[in-house]
Amino acid sequence: MEKYQKLLPFSASIGKTGELEIAGHNVRELAEKWGTPLYIYDGITLKEKIDSLYKLGAEEYKGKFDITYASKAYLSLGFARHLASLGVGVDVVSLGEMKIAGMAGFPPERVHLHGNNKSEEELEFALDWGVFSIVVDSLEELAFLEELAARKKKKMQIWLRIAPGVDVDTHPYLQTGHTASKFGIPIPDGQAVRAIEWAKGSEWLNLIGLHTHIGSQISDAKPYQRAVRMLLKIAAEADFVPQQISTGGGWGVLYRPEDKETKERDWVAMVADALHEECAALGYPLPQLVLEPGRWLTAQAGLAVYRVGFQKKSREGIHVVAVDGGMADNPRPAMYQAVYSALVVERPMAKPIQKVNLVGKYCETGDVLIAGVELPEVKRGDLIAMPSAGAYQLSMASNYNMAARPAVLWLEPGSVELLQKREDPSDAGWWVDAQ
Ligand code: LLP
Repeated sequence: MEKYQKLLPFSASIGKTGELEIAGHNVRELAEKWGTPLYIYDGITLKEKIDSLYKLGAEEYKGKFDITYASKAYLSLGFARHLASLGVGVDVVSLGEMKIAGMAGFPPERVHLHGNNKSEEELEFALDWGVFSIVVDSLEELAFLEELAARKKKKMQIWLRIAPGVDVDTHPYLQTGHTASKFGIPIPDGQAVRAIEWAKGSEWLNLIGLHTHIGSQISDAKPYQRAVRMLLKIAAEADFVPQQISTGGGWGVLYRPEDKETKERDWVAMVADALHEECAALGYPLPQLVLEPGRWLTAQAGLAVYRVGFQKKSREGIHVVAVDGGMADNPRPAMYQAVYSALVVERPMAKPIQKVNLVGKYCETGDVLIAGVELPEVKRGDLIAMPSAGAYQLSMASNYNMAARPAVLWLEPGSVELLQKREDPSDAGWWVDAQ
């Protein structure tokens, strides 16, 4: 159990029965009550992560500092309510996310709208609601937004998302700052400077900041420094003094006990240092620094719980253990070759004695949750906990094989709140004739 502590929610412990507990709640009992697969979020982890990041920002950066949560990592109404009460801003990329943020109590001034192809409906909603900034991703979007704002006679506050041409060491699908990325306004052919000059001169747009997001699951802070320098360089070229600079999110987390630890202080300190240096060199006042973590805030707060089903030895002698979830609730292993770890809920202290392929129940060869994971002996009906499950699992979950999306709980000491009901096929209308 000890070696899993750095992956598990902060409130994880072993109860009197020897079983896994989160925030003092027995996980086996929760699984019996709410069914499996079950997802659990620990309120304590989320709150402490937010507090610690604000503290790091205050310690490392001399200007103002803020956090916006990248809600694509996981969002539901109840979850958004908790986040809103914890004081962070929110980054949304669709009408759906924007509406949930609003319903949950985020004031529009705490909301940023991202996206490389926002619809007219999304832009109009953001403009009417008065979100803090629309993060413009192309020259064509800039022109469209200017016309929309002029038509509505409403001046719009914007950031520009710049493609910094910075490579990062992560899965290719998680890189976003490189030269071939679909995101952001490119620099080399002059588009970025043109966008800044255009926005500065616009009657209907109020350019206040520059943004970039270089990728996800990153553990080296140096590329962030390169991105900061690039943003300040083009700001200076266009004679623009930004009030805000955002280097996006992307800081990595641990998925297995053996993963190399990532130090978030490095991330904040190195971004801060680059900004201090560049602004001093240019004679610019320090802009507000805005970080946009998704995974770093929510991954460790989340735990997935599955029930073991049938087991077999494959023809190659591999011990295969199947659980009642898989790629429908967690497509990350299949999409990004993401690796996870697992422990037995009823016996978290038990010594691993075997290597197994922990597989899902869906009709797809790639539906392997963890290949070669070390586990103690398990039998049908046992419960498996997968740590670091709080980011990009549920938000990318599907109904493959007509799977129902799992129930999601929010735990605090003394309280269990249902964030998402287990999907009910009859509510979802799957069995209703669409004609
Ligand atoms: N800001 C922007 C503009 C983003 O596009 C993203 C993530 C973030 C912030 C937050 O990144 P994070 O801190 O969570 O790494 N589905 C993939 C991750 C895709 C990330 C998309 N953008 C996965 O499961 O790993």
